[in-house]
Order: sequence, then C-alpha cells, then structure tokens
Amino acid sequence: MAHITKATSVRDWFDQRIALTKLWNVLAGQYWIPKNINFLWAMGVVLTVLFTLLFISGLLLLMYYKPDANLAFDSVNYTIMKEVEYGWLWRHIHAVAASVIFLIIYIHAFVGIYYGSYKKGREMIWISGMLLFLIFSAEAFSGYMLPWGQMSYWAAQVITQLFGGIPFIGGALVEWIRGDYAVSDPTLTRFFMLHVCLLPIVIIMVIGVHFYTLRIPHVNNLEGEEIDFELEAEKYLKGDTVNSKVIPFWPGFLSKDFFYVSLFMIFFFYLVSFHFNFAMDPINFDPANAAKTPTHIYPEWYFLWQYEILRGFFFDIGPLKAADIGALAMAFAGISLFFMPLYDRSDVVAPAHKRKGFFIWFWLLIIDLIILTVYGKLPPTGFNAWIGFFSSVGFLALLLVVLPIITIKERKANK
Ligand code: HEM
Repeated sequence: MAHITKATSVRDWFDQRIALTKLWNVLAGQYWIPKNINFLWAMGVVLTVLFTLLFISGLLLLMYYKPDANLAFDSVNYTIMKEVEYGWLWRHIHAVAASVIFLIIYIHAFVGIYYGSYKKGREMIWISGMLLFLIFSAEAFSGYMLPWGQMSYWAAQVITQLFGGIPFIGGALVEWIRGDYAVSDPTLTRFFMLHVCLLPIVIIMVIGVHFYTLRIPHVNNLEGEEIDFELEAEKYLKGDTVNSKVIPFWPGFLSKDFFYVSLFMIFFFYLVSFHFNFAMDPINFDPANAAKTPTHIYPEWYFLWQYEILRGFFFDIGPLKAADIGALAMAFAGISLFFMPLYDRSDVVAPAHKRKGFFIWFWLLIIDLIILTVYGKLPPTGFNAWIGFFSSVGFLALLLVVLPIITIKERKANK
C-alpha cells in the first residue's frame, strides 16, 4: 500500500488516496488545445451540454410517462402538458433539445469535413463521432414513438418495415423487432426500454470513447498546422504562454467555451419559449390509429435527407424492387459517410478554401443535402420524384466517386 502521511490539506488528503491532481492534469489542467481555433470548435462542448439537458429533462418526464399503448398518449398530452406543474416546460426543453442537437451535430461534423479533421491520425475521432450520430438517430427515433401519436405510430411502421427488405430473414426480423405482427404495445415498450435505458448508456460510453480518441492526435486547428504538442506544452508550462501555440483545456479552452455555450443557451431558450412547435409535428397530437394512415408520412427534419434517399429510387430494376433499392441506397449513404477517411486519398490537412477541388466538392455536398432535405418533406410525385432520384445518386457519387478522384489528384499534385 502507498505510504500515507498526515495530510497538509484536503487536496493532499485526496492526492494521497486517489491522485486527484494527477487525474485533473490528465483530463483538463494539462490537456493541450491549439490556440488557433474559433467558435466552431465549441460545438463539441455545446453538444455535451445539450445531451446533459436531454438527460435531465428526460428523467423528469420519466416520472409521469406511462409506457402503455392505452395510456402513453394521455400521459404526455394531458398529464405532463396540462396537469404537472411546469411539465410543459420540461417537455418543450426535451423536444427542442432533441431537434437542435442534430443541427449542432451536423455543424460539428461538417466543420470536421471542412478542416480535414477526420484524417491523418484523426480517423478514429471521425468513426466514433459517426457512431454517436447513428446511436443518436436510434435514440431520436425511439423517443419519437413514445407519445404514441399518429406520426409516432406510422413512422414506426415505415422504419421497422425497412428491415423486411433483408433477404431470407426480413419478415421474421420485422416481427421480432415489433414484438408482434404489427406495431403495437410490445413495440412501444421495447422502444421505451431502448430510449430510456440501453441507448443512453451506450451514448455515454461512446461519448467517452470519442473524447478518448481526441487525446493522441489532439484537435485540429484553423490552418491544419501540425503542432508539436509536447514542445508547445513545455513552453507554456515554463511560463512562455504568449509564444506557445497551445492552451490547457481548463481554464483556457473551456472558459471561452462557456461564453459560446451561454450565447447558444439564449438562442435555445428563445426557441423553447417562443418556437417550440417546430420540434413537434401537429399530426402527432392525434392519438395513434392503426386504421387511419396519414395522407403524408415524413420524419423529423434531421432525417429528411436519408428519407429522400430511401424514396429516391422509385422504380424497380430487374428483379430488384424499388423499396429494396432505396433501403440499400440509404444504408450505403450512411456507410459511405462512416468510412469517409478511408477514401479521402489525400494527406493534405488544410481548410477547404485552401484546397480548390475539395472546396467545390464540399459545397456541392452541402447543396445536395439541402435539396434532399427540402424534397424529403414534399410528396414524391412527378418532378419531385426525379429531383429525389438525381440528388440521391448525386450524394452517393460525390462521396464514393468524386471524393476519391479529387483527393488522388491532390495527392499527386503535392508529390
Ligand atoms: C453528441 C455527440 C458528440 C459530442 C458530445 C462530441 C464532442 C466533441 C468534442 C468535445 C470535441 C472536441 C472539441 C471540438 O472540436 O468541438 C469533438 C471533436 C470532434 N468531433 Fe465530436 N462530438 C459528437 C459527435 C460527433 C459527430 C457526429 C462527428 C462526425 C462524424 C464528430 C466528429 C468530430 C471530429 C472530427 C472532431 C475533431 C475536431 C478537430 O480535430 O478539430 N463528433 N467532438
């Protein structure tokens, strides 16, 4: 056992037992962040704050929510919204945070793409981030089911049906996921379990992994400059804080982030107070009804681009059914984003505006995603269906064909 002496302070007492100062230095006090970054690097901390807010508001909602197909709708729309004091406020906080977290996730991920922060040693940061995106999607989808309104019910119907396209086991798999032949009470209770228990645990673990993957490569910076963190940290610790290119996570980085988080919170509570409706579909204020299909089923805004890819292939090709081609294309789109670091073939880490071909590619991808999102909400008929088709093909081509070509060219030009 370690040699324990009479403590000289409370801190010393803890240091002797659990090496508190050492832990603090590893996690924050001597964890180095480049100086050359801006507010876009605060998005990770904004995401952490939003997740915390979702967690706390979720716990409060859980005290009154009833995971039962006969009671769920009323427990949300009457008990929480009308009877429990400030229940409406916690519900709005939860719903707005769930929507806004996707906006910030998209900004965070596209900042990563713009500055090339997903490559040259940072691949694992990207892959763990994409894993978070995937699990957050499942979390949002399962949460959307819980009020058991019309959109909850029919979205569950459409999404669970997707698994039916898997050869041989599809039908049995759909039944297994639903816990019944159709979406019903067992479907609600299993998605409830996922939403309030399994997925949050996995999210917390993967956030831990995401933070850990940042330790060795460190975060990127505005110029993509390769910094010798050990050397710069030494300079900082010797007192040359002006010439050192780095600052410690605390207080240097996080205190600035608090400022950005505060600005964001003003925007967030403005939405919660005055525009909460954007995070709730009016159709979901009608109770789930298996006998009445809504005329138009669509997901929340943050899934529209994927939904449009799913619907984009609206014709059969030979033996392949349109629905299966769409499901395959959607899965491919997700997988191709996941593994983007592998087919970006250039070593150049620099902001997109300093990489001509990549800069054009980046903005084409954003425009394509916006088109997919806009058309994802429109009925997929006539002209709309063709726009959906071409922008879906465009998305896959940009990632799987154009990106490798321009980055191979870039690599050759830099030799
Ligand atoms: C709720 C989910 C997430 C949380 C809490 C989170 C948190 C963070 C934090 C705190 C950082 C360091 C500071 C910063 O650059 O903001 C970071 C960096 C990073 N994250 Fe995330 N992140 C999340 C999701 C994602 C997603 C979905 C992606 C993309 C697939 C992603 C990709 C990255 C990348 C590439 C970096 C490195 C940025 C750089 O080196 O400059 N993250 N994340």
